[in-house]
Amino acid sequence: MAFQSLFTLVALAAAVVAVPAPQDAQVNCGGGRFVKNAACCAWFPVLDDIQENLFSGSLCAEEAHEALRLTFHDAVGFSIAAEREGQFGGGGADGSILAFSDIETSFAANFGLDFTTEAFIPFALAHKVSFGDFVQFAGAVGVSNCIGGPRLQFLAGRSNNSRPSPDNLVPEPTDSAEKIFERLQDIGFSPIEVVHLLTAHTVSAQYEVDTDVAGSPFDSTPSSFDNQFFVESLLKGTAFTGNGQGGEVTSPIPGEFRLQSDFAISRDSRTACEWQSLVTNHANMVSKFETVMAKLATVGQNPNNLIDCSDVIPVPPAAKVTTGSFPPGKSKADVQSACAATPFPNLATQPGPVTSVLPVTA
Ligand code: HEM
Ligand SMILES: *[C@@H]1O[C@H](CO)[C@@H](O)[C@H](O)[C@H]1NC(C)=O
Repeated sequence: MAFQSLFTLVALAAAVVAVPAPQDAQVNCGGGRFVKNAACCAWFPVLDDIQENLFSGSLCAEEAHEALRLTFHDAVGFSIAAEREGQFGGGGADGSILAFSDIETSFAANFGLDFTTEAFIPFALAHKVSFGDFVQFAGAVGVSNCIGGPRLQFLAGRSNNSRPSPDNLVPEPTDSAEKIFERLQDIGFSPIEVVHLLTAHTVSAQYEVDTDVAGSPFDSTPSSFDNQFFVESLLKGTAFTGNGQGGEVTSPIPGEFRLQSDFAISRDSRTACEWQSLVTNHANMVSKFETVMAKLATVGQNPNNLIDCSDVIPVPPAAKVTTGSFPPGKSKADVQSACAATPFPNLATQPGPVTSVLPVTA
């Protein structure tokens, strides 16, 4: 009898282990999905819809890249300096880029974003979520589709009321490092944090700087959130991929597009060492990006008034490589190191013939 009840107990314990219960204080949203705050369940239908119908089945391709870019172009529309002078400085991450897309996409730095805003607005309207929340949500979901991507914080609850951002707040590829640093400093980002933000260019391409080479990526692996952007941007440029105008400088690989602004910041004495430090250690790069993106997503917002719905953001596919490498045919001899304090690390060269980088398509 004693033996039998012990056996029952063990069997019961095993059953409890076999069917793991969700952690304490979790809300069941149905469909095997759990969140800490019940208000976050409402984001799962938005997630499913955009993964299927905006990101073509959870791809890290053009629309996901655009979603990430949009988080910046919405949030950077904010100026504390203007507010100090008694002018309206914009609302930051307030969704004004969608609410007033006709106005804001006419700004030079937002040229071409009208296709993005047109594609995104119907999803926000259909799910009755605020434009400000939707921009940051879509960016976080989009970049979670990239191999080795970050899992960005997502806070919900931004007001849907906004006013059009003033013009000339979004940095342009023709801007000097100094101008970009000053612009971002105005909203609380140091030059080092600008480098962390620019990690986004590891999953990026250009369509509008030179439309003849639309889709030309900024590194050789635009659907992987890897260290390649930092490595390849430090290689000597050899040829233009486009017409060499509008903020393009020479790149080291045929088909790869290099922005003058990235070139300048990667070699600026204030940021060159931080840039170089991101050519290795994928986990470090991702964690710095997650930190700085949490700040970007709440520019002009009070985070204490928002609800943490980060548990709705998918866990990204794991990184396949955790350090940068030289593209075929390249070596340390091709590096233009601008960091005086630290030697450039030793990296492997990828085997195989020199190939050109293909454009990113939708
Ligand atoms: C700080 C100065 C920055 C400048 C001057 C800059 C400039 C640019 C330019 C010119 C493009 C190409 C757009 C096109 O022609 O289609 C681009 C693409 C992109 N940028 Fe930036 N950017 C900056 C910072 C950022 C930041 C902070 C983020 C996000 C956190 C970001 C995310 C992206 C993404 C994801 C793309 C790729 C879009 C696509 O492939 O469709 N950028 N950027
Ligand atoms: C947000 O504001 C826009 C107008 O800018 C409106 O069309 C939309 O329905 C609003 N969304 C919500 C959730 O209130």
